[in-house]
Amino acid sequence: MAATVDAGVDLSDLEFWARPRREREAAFAALRERDSPAFFQELKMPFVKTGAGYYALVRHADVVEASRRPEVFSSEPSVTGVADLPRYFARYFGSMINMDDPRHAEIRRIVSRAFTPRVLAKLEEDLAAAATEIVDDLLRDGPGDFVGRVAARLPLQVICDMMGIPPMWRPRVYEATNAILGIGDPDYTGGREFAASGVTRTGVLFGLATAMAAGYELNHMAMKLARRRRVRPGDDLISALVAAEIDGESLTDQEIGSFFILLVVAGNETTRNAMTHGLRLLTRNPEQRELLMADFDGRIGGAVEEIVRIATPVIQFRRTLTRDHEMNGHRYRAGDKVLLFYNSANRDAAVFDDPDAFDITRSPNPHVGFGGPGPHFCLGANLARREITVMFRELFTRIPEIRSDGPADWLYSNFINGIKRQDCAF
Ligand code: HEM
Repeated sequence: MAATVDAGVDLSDLEFWARPRREREAAFAALRERDSPAFFQELKMPFVKTGAGYYALVRHADVVEASRRPEVFSSEPSVTGVADLPRYFARYFGSMINMDDPRHAEIRRIVSRAFTPRVLAKLEEDLAAAATEIVDDLLRDGPGDFVGRVAARLPLQVICDMMGIPPMWRPRVYEATNAILGIGDPDYTGGREFAASGVTRTGVLFGLATAMAAGYELNHMAMKLARRRRVRPGDDLISALVAAEIDGESLTDQEIGSFFILLVVAGNETTRNAMTHGLRLLTRNPEQRELLMADFDGRIGGAVEEIVRIATPVIQFRRTLTRDHEMNGHRYRAGDKVLLFYNSANRDAAVFDDPDAFDITRSPNPHVGFGGPGPHFCLGANLARREITVMFRELFTRIPEIRSDGPADWLYSNFINGIKRQDCAF
């Protein structure tokens, strides 16, 4: 086992993730300067099987190589978190994101057609109509929380439409996905008093129980929809999942349920943060906003990529070494865990000039905000790009003076760079 080196910080310490953002960015910049990747011990938690520790991959080159070589850097047994998913969790959260090919590819193929640019182009009118309604409502209700009034609405509506989730269930879908990815945040794990107890037995038990209850509820919805679609198929993704056969076998209920959960969580909990970060970035960088407005259609593509690079809504995913392997001068052993810190790779000066600057004309912009190149590259990247583009076009054309107002209420998380509330003014 590698010894913990004195990296000057401890990424496993939950307090680190509550520190001011500039401090955290400086810590990652220092980690990128090291000759070898830093090794961190895992936080010991009750009820969770923890291992020895993990290497932090903080450089762009390392994150790209680990993403591109799945035969060495495996997504099994799980990518979400350093600890392996407890068995009772895998039932709801053990989907294709935690699998290697060929099973991963077979499952991804069932829905991937729905996410191609050509198929998404057909959604364009629906997206535009939804964005118009959102801005109508904002103008009617006036300034207030941008997350609730704008950023959360379009992604929720789109993913629920794609899955065939009835409108009545949608507020619960939203609450459940928030609870799952807000697992360490006091607002989602049942109150500040529990969060204050941190990694005590009560705190951890509460977090796990909240996420499990949310998983149970979403799974229950998936099973109900699946039963309906078996009798009366539609053109939604649940119908595609229940009709799919791999080697003559249908997907199991567990596979359908966990795939459903993966899609609604990923569809909901990422793009809304990108939009909110986008409003903040365009507010703090008025010259970039002017550039964008001078040629919206010509520059929005670059602006979206730059927002995703700077914001990096998903901070990290994990890989596990299948065998001994040398990468960029360091020898990893079979069984080692590595965390791919996309936030850090996206600020790597070896790849990005002036990496802290928000520059919507940056080109090329090989950021890894949607993951590195490889089989797990974000399935929803094109959808997210379309959603942000359509929403921002409607917003900035009809309310050109809209801006973020005051500080953000940040999600407390080492996984999602989330914003719970952000006021806007106009
Ligand atoms: C700005 C928004 C988004 C960001 C930053 C983001 C980020 C990511 C990242 C970093 C991965 C890589 C996982 C890995 O390599 O292990 C990923 C995978 C994935 N994303 Fe996204 N995502 C976004 C939007 C979406 C949307 C809208 C959906 C819609 C359903 C989605 C669905 C998925 C799925 C299903 C995977 C797993 C792919 C696989 O394992 O093959 N994402 N995403």
